[in-house]
Amino acid sequence: MDPFAKPGLHQAEAILQAHGVDAYFRSAAERTGDSHVVIDGRKVLMAGSGDYLGLSTHPRVIEAAVAAVRRFGTGVGGSRALNGTLDLHRELEGRLAAFLGQEAAAVTGSGFQANLALSALLGRDDIAFTDARNHASLIDAVRLGWGKVRSYRDLAHLRERLAAAPSGGGRLIITDSVFSMEGDVADLRGLVALAEEYDAKLVIDAAHDMGVFGPDGGGLATSYGLEGRIDLITGALSKAFGSVGGVLAGSADNIRYLDHNARSVLFSTALPPASAAAALAALEIILAEPERRARTLDLAGALHSGLRELGYDTRPSTTPIIPVRFADMAAAGAFWAGLFEAGVFTNLVGPPASAGAMLRLSLTANHDDADVTTVLEAVSAVGHRLHSNG
Ligand SMILES: Cc1ncc(COP(=O)(O)O)c(C=O)c1O
Repeated sequence: MDPFAKPGLHQAEAILQAHGVDAYFRSAAERTGDSHVVIDGRKVLMAGSGDYLGLSTHPRVIEAAVAAVRRFGTGVGGSRALNGTLDLHRELEGRLAAFLGQEAAAVTGSGFQANLALSALLGRDDIAFTDARNHASLIDAVRLGWGKVRSYRDLAHLRERLAAAPSGGGRLIITDSVFSMEGDVADLRGLVALAEEYDAKLVIDAAHDMGVFGPDGGGLATSYGLEGRIDLITGALSKAFGSVGGVLAGSADNIRYLDHNARSVLFSTALPPASAAAALAALEIILAEPERRARTLDLAGALHSGLRELGYDTRPSTTPIIPVRFADMAAAGAFWAGLFEAGVFTNLVGPPASAGAMLRLSLTANHDDADVTTVLEAVSAVGHRLHSNG
């Protein structure tokens, strides 16, 4: 049996393509200030980017990346532990730790790798309690670790599972703080309380809220003043930070443990200088320009309410990640193609990334009110044409 000949998502793509829906791996010839991209010679509004603050094209971020390449080269030629650590990494780690309200931080090559590091926390007697909606990287992390995995649907279910768990081993509760597909948020207060009640450690993945939420942008945990009661924060520099890379933040002892034992970090080349410098410059802008995140949240609010007025329910999202649900992938795909034709690029998502078929919309601080109107007019026109209301 050919190992490559298994059924998979490539077949789902082929079915969509046969119906004229070509939504995946589309390549852009240009990105214009992040709010538009040029695909197949057409300029389309990008309404699906996670570059929430529009920092990936900010002149100061670009300059910082270019200066770092000139100074350090394009790659460091080794892992952090052996020969790849730069002062730049250390500076970024110090700043990110403070930003996330933690004692120490480690930066990694990607957010995915930061999450895979969690596998080093799971010994044979340990149990990982994971939210069923968690990102694929968190699911893979617990698959890679030893120990048992208990998935939970909500806080009541988590309580049941914690109460039923044998004592003796370590307990780790792992959750996204903002869920990446439906844009809903974890009940961090409830999770902290349960973790404390059942003597579990709490790990949150702040990939989608660091830079966007919190009084200084330090993420949802800082919105509730909970950063001191969370054992580890993981995150990504690929979204609001407009760069690439991941972060692990927690107590100095816990970060030291991960630095030395997490294989996805230990056996991988250090974050490139340009990415580290871009993230540092982005962090300065995040701290100095709170109006950027305010703008992102305002545009998201306008898009949520405009979609609701058109009859599209964007619940359970309360964030800039805006889901529009459909009965099946055929309906979602037709809508995606209609919007693309109308000049609006969205993300077409289905299982296993999300529970059902949906479009995932997001706008960045580089968009403006006119862009919201453009998206809403396109949704309205396509909806009328397809006689579909999501
Ligand atoms: C919640 C969450 N965690 C982690 C990641 C992985 O981050 P990265 O793309 O930097 O590898 C993503 C993004 O894709 C994500 O949505």
